Amino acid sequence: MFYIVQAMPYKRHILVTGGAGFIGSHVVRLFTNKYDDYQIINLDKLTYAGNLANLKDIENKPNYTFVKADICDFETICRLMEEFQVDGIIHLAAESHVDRSIKDPFTFARTNVMGTLSLLQAAKLYWESKKEGYEGKRFYHISTDEVYGALELTHPEGVKSAHSTHPVYGDDFFHESTKYAPHSPYSASKASSDHFVRAFHDTYGMPTLVTNCSNNYGPYQFPEKLIPLFINNIRHRKPLPVYGKGENVRDWLYVEDHARAIDLIFHQGRIADTYNIGGFNEWKNIDLIKVIIKTVDRLLGHPEGYSSDLITYVTDRKGHDMRYAIDSSKLHEELGWEPSLQFEEGIEKTVRWYLDNQEWMDNVTSGDYQKYYEEMYLGR
Ligand code: NAD
Ligand code: DAU
Repeated sequence: MFYIVQAMPYKRHILVTGGAGFIGSHVVRLFTNKYDDYQIINLDKLTYAGNLANLKDIENKPNYTFVKADICDFETICRLMEEFQVDGIIHLAAESHVDRSIKDPFTFARTNVMGTLSLLQAAKLYWESKKEGYEGKRFYHISTDEVYGALELTHPEGVKSAHSTHPVYGDDFFHESTKYAPHSPYSASKASSDHFVRAFHDTYGMPTLVTNCSNNYGPYQFPEKLIPLFINNIRHRKPLPVYGKGENVRDWLYVEDHARAIDLIFHQGRIADTYNIGGFNEWKNIDLIKVIIKTVDRLLGHPEGYSSDLITYVTDRKGHDMRYAIDSSKLHEELGWEPSLQFEEGIEKTVRWYLDNQEWMDNVTSGDYQKYYEEMYLGR
């Protein structure tokens, strides 16, 4: 006797773009594990920053599918929308590194602006072709605090704050109403994509959401960004290139807390609204670098201060934004989100992860990485 086993229909079909990258892989992991009744389609071009090894632990789950594609390939995206009956998009795919955008702005305009537009238009055509139209649909665009420009360093030594145990370095914060003022080609391209997303809501009624988040840190971040780059360099006794005087300030958030916020906002965020996501956790680069050095040295069994000699002040990044600081109180007040990890705990977890996963690091730093590293840092 034969039984016909009917596959359980999925309640939702969610396309995550850039799911093989740093933040995207945490989002894909969270959604795939948490929602057995959702089909999660991870669409990624697998640029230098995309790595399927980031998703080894969930790659065989029945509700997970990977598709290698470019968001700029409009026809393919249109076909995939139909094929997977996509009803929700969480859009993370982007060129994400400021230094690369300074060297090659065109790639950033192509992926971040034209790619986002291609995704929006494909979603529009597919959703408008359905009898229920936009009902139950979501286009959620993940953006950055860098679109707001830079804040001043009015308190270079830091002052106490009601929000955090760590000092703040200025009086202003980025709010959802802060005017856009991007400075780098990267942030200009992200700002442009944010405008396109909002325009698709205002013009066609597409149910969109935009969030602007501060600097993320945690496992699986490509070692061109400050924290993994410095952990790896300390391990290999390579110089630690501190841009300018190391006085720039960033607001750091553990990546899993960002992924939790994305989950909450995807399900409960108000359509057409914007939410800022940040850790109320400002650090001057040089202070953060000292914490990284101390943590790596301790975990590798070196005496305190052993790697401090690696600190090397180098030519500043062009147009280097002085300070970012996000006010995420709207997200807290409206949806109850707050970071789950204290920074000290998050940085300890992060350093341990990179030290324990040297094979992952060796794989991503083989091949073209050495060429990038030499061009970016040697002779700077
Ligand atoms: P990442 O560079 O680690 O990953 C980007 C992913 O996008 C990679 O997997 C890459 O292969 C993929 N991708 C690039 N171009 C593509 C294309 N044309 N088509 C399909 N896939 C493509 O980036 P991340 O740090 O994980 O950032 C993810 C998103 O979050 C970006 O939109 C970024 O602007 C935003 N963001 C990042 C941070 C941060 O601190 N990293 C903070 C706020 C917002
Ligand atoms: O604020 C959110 C943004 O955070 C995201 O939108 C970007 O995708 C993400 O890359 C990040 O941008 P930053 O430029 O702030 O991150 P990065 O890790 O490149 O640099 C952090 C700070 O450290 C910044 O002030 C520059 C400095 N820096 C960075 C590198 C790579 C150094 O001093 N030396 C370095 O080698």
